[in-house]
Formats: sequence, structure tokens, C-alpha cells
Amino acid sequence: MKVSVVGSGTMGRGIGQVFAQAGHQVKLIDINKEVLGKAKENIKESLARLEKKKALTESLDVIMERIEYSSDIADVKGSQFIIEAVFERIDIKQEALENICKSASPDAIIGTNTSSISINTLAKFIEGKERFIGTHFFNPVPVMKLVEIITSERTSKEVIEKTEKVMIEIGKDPVFSKDFPGFISNRILMPLIREAIAVYEQGIASAADIDKSFRLGMAHPMGPLELADFVGLDVCYDVLEVLYRDYGEPRFKPPITLKNMVTAGKLGRKSGEGFYNYR
Ligand SMILES: NC(=O)c1ccc[n+]([C@@H]2O[C@H](COP(=O)([O-])OP(=O)(O)OC[C@H]3O[C@@H](n4cnc5c(N)ncnc54)[C@H](O)[C@@H]3O)[C@@H](O)[C@H]2O)c1
Repeated sequence: MKVSVVGSGTMGRGIGQVFAQAGHQVKLIDINKEVLGKAKENIKESLARLEKKKALTESLDVIMERIEYSSDIADVKGSQFIIEAVFERIDIKQEALENICKSASPDAIIGTNTSSISINTLAKFIEGKERFIGTHFFNPVPVMKLVEIITSERTSKEVIEKTEKVMIEIGKDPVFSKDFPGFISNRILMPLIREAIAVYEQGIASAADIDKSFRLGMAHPMGPLELADFVGLDVCYDVLEVLYRDYGEPRFKPPITLKNMVTAGKLGRKSGEGFYNYR
């Protein structure tokens, strides 16, 4: 199958990699040429790690050759499955989705990797709304098996079934969610992270002890604050804001400590500092 991924940042490159590993022809598209260079390097490194662990069924070179890189969104032409993974901003997604529709074949399935924007809202930008579906992958995509499949009011049964089949075929294990803010995982995870931050900011326990409680007491591989640092504190803040706006319930209200950390550039692992120091 021919697949295009629009947006080749953290998520897009991972999605492209898993499709290529499963034998599909992939076009990785990004408006930023520098990002495309980095994506190629990053995928090669990731495949090399898998090759070392003997987790690849083909050679690294064969998989790399299946991926083409382009800065022209019109190159989605000819793809049967297209996934949008651009910035989490509605105006940017609108532009990308409208441009995808200009060049995509009418029967191509169009997925979005949005983590918090309503699928029904994004469907407004799609020509042929029945072919539009949420495919929410998890970071790092080559490692995490979960995909949330989210349907809009207009997604067709055929597209849901085809998407499920494709996700299983690329090695993912999907769950299905209606189009409600946060879908399944973020709706449950974000209030947990929020409460962990409350325990931390009230001085009840240290970050290390909060996380240890979850690692040792609940068999979570990471505690909530470690996980927040891993996801990115800016991302957590943005998702909580959307949940708070849409549900209007205090349990989603972004904590002031989180806002202060984000404003100060403490974004977690990616900036070198969050609830922990990574430098
Ligand atoms: N990072 C995560 O952990 C995570 C997890 C699940 C879902 N998501 C979602 O995935 C999407 C992408 O997130 P990310 O973390 O990969 O972001 P990112 O910032 O790493 O990458 C986004 C890329 O989109 C590109 N882009 C912007 N506008 C474009 C356009 N019009 N055409 C083509 N490319 C364009 C940018 O150049 C950038 O490289 C977002 O919707 C995000 O909410 C992220």
C-alpha cells in the first residue's frame, strides 16, 4: 500500500517508520526541509537499534529505501492511506488537511494523529467526511503498541474496519473511542498528572516519592511526574486546557505550578529540566 504522512516531527517520522517496517511505500512530508533530514537520520538510528536487537525481519537498507521524503504536500497524490501529524493547532491542521484533500485520491483514507482536537471539528476541513478518522499513536511510535481509533459522526463503517485492519497489520493493537475530549487515555491520565502535581505543590511529598508510589505500589513503569516530563510539560498543559475548556470541570484545571514551569521553559526531558533535572 502507498502511505503518506504529513508532518515529520516526533510522531510523523515514527508513524512513517512503522509503515515502512510493515512493507508499505511511505512518503514522509514536511514543510520544513531540515526536519526531513533529521527524520531520515532518526529513523536510521531507530532501525539500527532494532537491527542490533535482531528485531527486524528485513535489512535496514531495504526498509529505508521504502521511505521517500518531500516538502510538497501535493505528493500525497496516489496514496491510499494518509496520516496528518502536523502541529497541534487547529489553523495549521486546517491548512494541512485542506491541502491534503486537494491532491489526495477521492477514496484515500485520511487519518489525523491529533491528541486533543475534536475529530468532528477537523472533519469540517475534509472533502468526503466519511473517509476521515482519528488515528492517535503513542510516543515513541515504533515501541508503543497502542493506537486509539476515533470516529466522527460521519466516519463510514468501511473506513473504521479498514483502519483497524491496517493498524493491526503494522503491529499495533487498537482501541476505539467516541469523539470526546481526551479520548480514552488522556482523559484518564491528565487528571492523574494534575493530582500528582497538586500533591507536589502542596509539599505533601517529593517528586521522587510520588513517582515511587506508582512504580512500586501500582506497577506503573513510570510515575505520573516522570511521565509528564517524558510527554512534555507544555503538551500536558495544552491538553489540560482543552479538557478544562470542553468539560468545564475543576478536575481538569491546569495547575499554576505547571503553567509557571512551562512559561519558564521547563518543559521536561526535551528541555533538560522539568520535575527532574536531565542535564
Ligand atoms: N509528541 C507526542 O508525544 C504526541 C503523542 C500523540 C499525538 N501527538 C500529536 O501528533 C501531532 C504531531 O505532534 P509532534 O509531537 O510530532 O509534533 P512536532 O512538532 O514534532 O512535529 C510537527 C511537524 O509538523 C510540521 N508541519 C507544520 N505545518 C505543516 C504543514 N502545513 N505541512 C506539513 N508539515 C507541517 C512541522 O514542520 C513539524 O516538523 C500533534 O497533533 C500532536 O498533538 C503527539
